[in-house]
Amino acid sequence: MSIAGAQSPAPLADQPSGYGLVTRTLHWGMALLFAWQFTSAILRAVAEDTAIEGFFWSTHYSVGFTLWVLVLLRGAWGLANWSRRPPHEGPPLLARAATLGHLALYALMVVVPTLAILRAAGNGRGFRVYGIQLVAPGGEPVPALVAPGNALHGFLGWTLLVLVAGHIAMALWHGLVRRDATLSRMTRGREPQAIR
Ligand code: HEM
Repeated sequence: MSIAGAQSPAPLADQPSGYGLVTRTLHWGMALLFAWQFTSAILRAVAEDTAIEGFFWSTHYSVGFTLWVLVLLRGAWGLANWSRRPPHEGPPLLARAATLGHLALYALMVVVPTLAILRAAGNGRGFRVYGIQLVAPGGEPVPALVAPGNALHGFLGWTLLVLVAGHIAMALWHGLVRRDATLSRMTRGREPQAIR
């Protein structure tokens, strides 16, 4: 209930009418970090050994590690809020596709950095994050830790970028074409008619 003219504070937890402050902060904060992370990957692919690539690539391990920690927190928070989350909009087939798309996004957000971290931990060259040495250099490379990352980190990273592009396109379609509440639940937190 709210007093006319006054806005009730945004809830921290998710509600069926919209996402809470924690989910929205994690979502948009991670979106910014992913934009940064993909910038470093794209520059590495198209402009290796340039100054701008050197700058962005020097952050790839630390930002990637941060994303890995955040996605684990976000997954735990999502599970804790599962029963309160807004349902997907649209016909049943579209809602099912949205559920599968989000599952694939989560799976790749976990698997892509995990493969790279295991490789970095097992390649014998050591692993530093924000200047902190998490794994000391030295020792023999461990093929079981290195090979999966070599085979799949880059490929699955690009696959994640394609899914993220699809996710953005669908969010814009909901907001601009279908004009339903999907986008405002993640921006303002509540459906327009629920904001008083
Ligand atoms: C969600 C986080 C991450 C994303 C989306 C991501 C994405 C990518 C992509 C798309 C590439 C391919 C670049 C190319 O083709 O030149 C790449 C390469 C690479 N990434 Fe990441 N990365 C992430 C996290 C990490 C982390 C945490 C590490 C280190 C611990 C790391 C280390 C590397 C390395 C060494 C390469 C070059 C070798 C390779 O292609 O596998 N990445 N990353």
